[in-house]
Amino acid sequence: MAPSSRTSTAGAGWEACSGCGAWKTDVPDDAKPLSWLRPATLWRSRNDVIARRFHDPVDAARMRWVRLARAQGCDPDFVVERASGDSSFLVIGDPGEGDDSQYAVVPGLLSQAEGVDFAVICSDLIYPTGDIGDYEGRFYNPYRKLHVPIFGVPGNHDWYDGLHGFMHHICGLDDPDAPLDFGSGVRRWIASRTWRHSVRPADDALAAMRGDREPCGQPGPYVAIDAGPLRIVTIDTGIQGGIDAEQAAWLERVSLADPRPKVLLTGKPIYVDGEYKAQQAAVDRIVTDPRANYVAAIGGDIHNYQRYPVKLPDGRTLQYVVSGGGGAFMHATHQIPVVDLPGVKERDFRCYPLRGDSLARYSQLYAKKLRQKWLELSPDEASSYMAGQLELDTTRPGKPVPLSRRARLAGTAIQPLPAGRGFQRFVSEAFDWNDPPMFKSFLRIDATASELRVRCFGVSGCLESEHAPPVEDDFTIPLN
Ligand SMILES: [Fe+2]
Repeated sequence: MAPSSRTSTAGAGWEACSGCGAWKTDVPDDAKPLSWLRPATLWRSRNDVIARRFHDPVDAARMRWVRLARAQGCDPDFVVERASGDSSFLVIGDPGEGDDSQYAVVPGLLSQAEGVDFAVICSDLIYPTGDIGDYEGRFYNPYRKLHVPIFGVPGNHDWYDGLHGFMHHICGLDDPDAPLDFGSGVRRWIASRTWRHSVRPADDALAAMRGDREPCGQPGPYVAIDAGPLRIVTIDTGIQGGIDAEQAAWLERVSLADPRPKVLLTGKPIYVDGEYKAQQAAVDRIVTDPRANYVAAIGGDIHNYQRYPVKLPDGRTLQYVVSGGGGAFMHATHQIPVVDLPGVKERDFRCYPLRGDSLARYSQLYAKKLRQKWLELSPDEASSYMAGQLELDTTRPGKPVPLSRRARLAGTAIQPLPAGRGFQRFVSEAFDWNDPPMFKSFLRIDATASELRVRCFGVSGCLESEHAPPVEDDFTIPLN
């Protein structure tokens, strides 16, 4: 088995890496690296600000999409039957930038696709704005060799297009003339006037884009997939992370009506960055209800891998996972504090990249962007620095390296602030990079009648490991 980042620096892609894998030749010539610093990208994404500051049209629009989907005669509770016996599927979180960092994940994904029944892209299928016309280079082309149905969980970025792109390409539904309902009032008027609408390509261009990919059979923005011993329930958390009342009632229904063990897939993780997200409490109330029999809740949105095995007051352990590292820019893990939450502590927590590797990668980027070579920390220095800061042992075997005054200063300069505040909130977006080590990841999940196995594969982008991605986490949940 290939060494992982938990066992060696080579496993992380710091060494024994001769450069980008053959995936590089697959990136379309006209694919510009997506820059989150480009004013055009920010202006295109303005619907996020409009929804948060003026009026959020998502709930009304989602209910309209749901009515339209039901009118097609699908199962009224959006239940889709897949495998009847054992089942396996892939989960790809937040991939759709259409540049190197998305394509680098594909060979590893294909290498783990044997026997897989389907895949799910768990949030943010298409950056920056989910446009119906952007699916060719960010969905159809990268996954053209993945010959299984691909389901989707909408992320906030997919909603910046009013979900037209997602509903057309994933659910086969169109409603091109439906206006978004902003209602009346000054704030709503401002929202309606400033909202960005995407341009719909001609029908034949959309058909050409799709090529020979068969529809996955997903009826609506949220769905319950019955896959042998498991029911997979996906929810749509819109732009701001909430679900409408109709969806909440549906979630309760499909969760309680079927006794099978369940996995939730969501665009907003419930535990992330060392915190419990109170905004997700309504969803978590159903996930933790023993009658619903959930065993795991997996969320995208944050672009790395994190796992919190939370011991519930009733004695069960529920696996809360963040898996958003499927292709877009990487969110730092070096600002995740020591995990100390009711039911889960640091010793049970896992993340990829390791905090030290995250700090080392960012130190390289800071050093390069600011032309301050002294800021650069080696992976061993960064790992020792993080271990010292958090009063933990280093994860990789071996003694921590002694830190020079320069290394301590560099660590202090780069890791001073908690994530999510001030400029630091946008640092990850600003430091999008497209060369190894990339620290991308995806999941393969295998379910039998007796157990569920979840593996997180790490992707460095290096030639040496492109078809044999290391296993960064591997856990099994007994099902009964
Ligand atoms: Fe995302």
